[in-house]
Amino acid sequence: MSKKILITGVGGQDGYFLAKLLLERGDTVHGLLRGGSEDEIGSLKFLGEAELARIGIHRGDVTEKWFVDELIQRELFDEVFHLAAQSSVARSIGHPRETIDTNVLGLTNIATSIRDRSPKTKLLFTGSSEMFGDLTDGKQSESAPRHPQSPYGLTKDFGFQLINAYRKHYGLWAATAILFNHESEFRGEQFVTKKIIQSVARISAGRDETLSLGNIYAERDWGYAGDYMEGVLDVMALELPDDFVFATGQLHSVKDFVNLAFKHAGIELEWSGEGLDEIARDPSNGKVVVRIDEQFYRPGDIKGTCGDYSKASHQLGWKPRTTLEETISKMIQHEQSKEL
Ligand code: GDD
Repeated sequence: MSKKILITGVGGQDGYFLAKLLLERGDTVHGLLRGGSEDEIGSLKFLGEAELARIGIHRGDVTEKWFVDELIQRELFDEVFHLAAQSSVARSIGHPRETIDTNVLGLTNIATSIRDRSPKTKLLFTGSSEMFGDLTDGKQSESAPRHPQSPYGLTKDFGFQLINAYRKHYGLWAATAILFNHESEFRGEQFVTKKIIQSVARISAGRDETLSLGNIYAERDWGYAGDYMEGVLDVMALELPDDFVFATGQLHSVKDFVNLAFKHAGIELEWSGEGLDEIARDPSNGKVVVRIDEQFYRPGDIKGTCGDYSKASHQLGWKPRTTLEETISKMIQHEQSKEL
């Protein structure tokens, strides 16, 4: 049976994949975008015209309680996917208040409106591996200790706990999908993978440029956003709400990602130097294509994070399908098509 669904933050990378999957399923999709003019639709611009026409766009801010109340009460959605967030860890360090407003107030407003005005609506919150903080012992499952280091991580830990409390105390169908890093061709430019891919595309198109990065020894568990949104749908389909980690279980450094991305464009980097003086050259012409810039280091950066998705695998039959190389290939192809 077709469902009536709201995706908050529908203009982001994940909103694109989720909206596409739901439309394919025949659901009635509503998307919430924050302010902006009519042509500002973020990643939705990559949908086909017919698909886009089927999405009911609402514009408003999740931090405005009256707006959220009115929307939830009027539309009585079957399901709400709450994706809206200030999602950059780096930005959260410089702008903690904006991050807390959007992420904490936004979720509280959505969950409370559902509790008070549409209690049959299912609510899925997209949590983050940042709530765990650094990898200590083995991989991080749903029950791993939580030691968030950034304002962003703190807001995601708050969200995880609020969802649990509303589920327990008010009987709300509320769940958290704990998402480890997930990338795609629609990734925002503020994230390291997109920054690297854009630079590789420009350099391989013959442009003169050097990619400046911060800590290239930070390690992440990078998956493909499209796979993770399939998992998010599986969670929403459950009769009883529960929390699930979505990850690949594989750890790569930023430097590994840089090497793989350049290799994909036919450039086998040659590294030399150490610390802030570390550089990488394109051996075909000797040009420095990667260097380190202190301004991109973050206080309290997580050194490494790696997920254990065995619960999702056993209970949902989910597993990541796209390899890191395939993700890189999709990202480069997308960027190169823009360069032409
Ligand atoms: N952004 C950025 N820019 N990061 C850099 C750079 C740079 O120039 N140089 C090195 N890094 C390192 C960061 O220090 C960090 O350790 C790592 O690259 C990844 O940074 P991001 O891509 O910004 O992602 P993130 O891990 O902080 O957060 C992402 O993943 C979380 C977990 O899924 C975001 O998508 C969050 O919203 C998400 O919750």
